[in-house]
Amino acid sequence: MLLCVVAAICLCGCGSVKKQSGQDGMVPAELTEDLIVVGFSQLGSESVWRTAHTASIQEQLTKEKGFFLEYNNARQRQENQIKAIRSYISQRVDYIVFSPVTETGWDTVLQEAKNANIPVIVVDRMVDVKDDSLYTTIIGMDAQEEGRKAGRWLEEFCRKNKGKDETINVLVMEGTAGSSAQIGRSEGFDEIAKTHDDWRVLEKISGEFTTTKGKEVMLSMLSKYQDIDVVVSQNDDMTFGIIEALQERGVSYGVDGDVTIISFDAVKEALELVADGKINVDIECNPLQGEQVAEVIRKLEAGQPVEKRYVVDGDIFTIDNVKSVLEQRKY
Ligand code: AHR
Repeated sequence: MLLCVVAAICLCGCGSVKKQSGQDGMVPAELTEDLIVVGFSQLGSESVWRTAHTASIQEQLTKEKGFFLEYNNARQRQENQIKAIRSYISQRVDYIVFSPVTETGWDTVLQEAKNANIPVIVVDRMVDVKDDSLYTTIIGMDAQEEGRKAGRWLEEFCRKNKGKDETINVLVMEGTAGSSAQIGRSEGFDEIAKTHDDWRVLEKISGEFTTTKGKEVMLSMLSKYQDIDVVVSQNDDMTFGIIEALQERGVSYGVDGDVTIISFDAVKEALELVADGKINVDIECNPLQGEQVAEVIRKLEAGQPVEKRYVVDGDIFTIDNVKSVLEQRKY
């Protein structure tokens, strides 16, 4: 009887290690140490950026640093993320970290996390919820500002290179529909584009943030439009596919070519293409967010206040400044 009571107290919450875990409801041996248990729902593994983002969190939330990390890859499906979050709630983890595939659709599950008193840290993208007390903080990019940066760069490029009466045809290849990265980058770019009557946006079409889809879509756009002057590609992986398509069709691109390429992320492979003059500009989005996540959790553990929003800033790389960063780039 006494043993049952002691076991129940341990499972119901004393100290940081108090979780039931695993399918069989057993407490894994690792959890006998005094670690902070974090459930991390990653949205997928669609891009080089995403791989770096996942690794950054996994490298920071280690046992050596005082964490026990449970990881789930939702493979681009919101229902998988909701399932993972519910499983973390039922395991009574200390914190939930998640990178939402889309902005909307989270109210119910985040309310469940709040009811269970589990702080939720949103990383990378944003959530659009009615009540912002459903999450503790958001750590990630300002996608709108990234879109504006792309627009402002194009303004400057046109000022130097475009004839006065010339109209430029712009194709926008968007990422996952409904994601912050897609919504924000499109809105930010549109904000600038609408102030230029001589920019004609031919189409906004989704390449789903992947190289395969980026190539497929670009091939069909090259069949549809005779004259594409600028491609705004909302991530580097799609840009790799776009470049393959341009090469296949014998269309020149980059600094000395016919099609100007604007990309986002600034992963190493893309920065090499910037250095070679194949990508005109790359708007950086920093995936190394793990350290900040760990820092926020430590503050919360110490009862210290945290900001509601941490913006991870980024640079803009062209052939003129890319060499300074290329050597140190890890991802
Ligand atoms: O949310 C960040 C975006 O998602 C990155 O630009 C992209 O590469 C990733 O898939």
